[in-house]
Amino acid sequence: MSNQDQQLSLFDIPSLNQDPESVDFDLEEIPKNAHTPIPPGTYQTLAQIADHCNRCSRCQLGKNRTHAVIGRGNPTAPIMIIGEAPGQHEDEQGLPFVGRSGQLLDKILDSVGLSTDTEVYISNAIRCRPPENRTPTASELQACKPYLLEQIRLINPQIILLTGATAVKSLLGDKRPITKIRGQWFQWEGRQCMPIFHPAYLLRNSSRDVGKPKWLMWQDMQAVRQRLNEIQSH
Ligand code: URA
Repeated sequence: MSNQDQQLSLFDIPSLNQDPESVDFDLEEIPKNAHTPIPPGTYQTLAQIADHCNRCSRCQLGKNRTHAVIGRGNPTAPIMIIGEAPGQHEDEQGLPFVGRSGQLLDKILDSVGLSTDTEVYISNAIRCRPPENRTPTASELQACKPYLLEQIRLINPQIILLTGATAVKSLLGDKRPITKIRGQWFQWEGRQCMPIFHPAYLLRNSSRDVGKPKWLMWQDMQAVRQRLNEIQSH
C-alpha cells in the first residue's frame, strides 16, 4: 500500500449494515457489569452493539431476555426516536415498537410524511424488557446508557425525539413531567431534541379535541417535520 493509500484508509467508514454473523467478539470484551466502561467509539457497527447486548449482564434484565432490542429503521436517518423499553412483542421479535404503541407511532409518522424506510430510526432507553413492563429503574437506565450513546453516535441523527418521561430522564437527565416539556426544543451534544408524548399515553387518551394529548402530538410532529425540512433545505 502506498503512503497515500495508507492515509486514505484511515478515513474508511465501516458499513453500518454489517452482517451480524460476521461479528466475532471475544467473550471477554463483553461489559460484565454496570461499572465496566464502554468508551465512545467502542463499536464500529450496530451489529456489534447487538452482539454485545444479546450477551449483556450489566443489569438484571438480561436474565429474562429473549432478544435484546436494538433498533429498527434507516441506520443513517436524520431523525432518531428514543422510547422507554421493550415490551412483550418487542422482546419476542427483537425489534422496538412492534406492538400497539408501535402501530400508532408508525401512523403518527406517516401523518407527517415520515417513515422508518427513510427519515427515521427507532430505539429505546434500554434494550431488555423489564418484568411486567414496569418502568426501568435509574440504575437500569444508567447501565444501558453507553449502548444508547453509541447508537446515537453511529446513527448520527440531527433530530432526536424522546417519547415519554423515561427517555427524557435517560438522555437529558430532566425529571420534569412530560406534560411540562413536550414540544420544546433542547440542544443536546449539537443535536436538536424534542420530548414528545409516548404513543401508549395517546392510546389511553384518545380524544382529538383541541388541547388534548393527541392534538398536542399533532402540533409537535408538524414542528418536527418543519424543522427537518429546514435542515434539509440548507
Ligand atoms: N414502548 C416503548 O417505549 N418501546 C417499545 O419498544 C415498545 C413500547
